[in-house]
Amino acid sequence: MQLYDAIHAARAISKQAYAPYSGFRVGAAILTEGGTLYDGCNVENASYGLSICAERGAVMKMIADSPPEDRRIRLVAVVSPNTAPCFPCGACRQVLREFGCEEVVVLDAEGAPSRYPFEEILPNSFGPEAL
Ligand code: THU
Repeated sequence: MQLYDAIHAARAISKQAYAPYSGFRVGAAILTEGGTLYDGCNVENASYGLSICAERGAVMKMIADSPPEDRRIRLVAVVSPNTAPCFPCGACRQVLREFGCEEVVVLDAEGAPSRYPFEEILPNSFGPEAL
C-alpha cells in the first residue's frame, strides 16, 4: 500500500510543477524506512541551470521535516505526465544515494509501476560510507 501511496503522492504533486520553460512536469515522492512520505516537484528558473528536479525537491523536504533517525530512503516514485517512464537524472541519483535509497519506481504509459533496485540504476556508486 505504501508503494501506491508514494505513486499517488508523486502524481499529485507533479501538478504543482513550476516548469514554464521546458513544459516538462515531474513529481517525486520519497518513502522513508520509517514510513513517511515526502514529495517534491521540479522548479525551473529563468536562469535555466538553476532549475531543481522533483527528486531533489523531495530530498530537501525530507531533510527539512524529518527527525534525523528517519532519513533512510526506502524508495522514490517518479511521475511525469509528459512522458513515461521518467527516470531520475544522474545528479538526482547521486543525491538519493546519499540517503541509502533502495529502490526507484517509475510508471509506464498505462500507469503500471516498474521497480528497479537502486544498484541497478546507479551501479558501483560513491557514498558517504566511503569517506
Ligand atoms: N526533471 C525532473 O524534475 N526530474 C527528472 O527525473 C528529470 C528532469 C525536470 C528538470 C527540468 O525542470 C525538466 O524536468 C526538464 O528537464
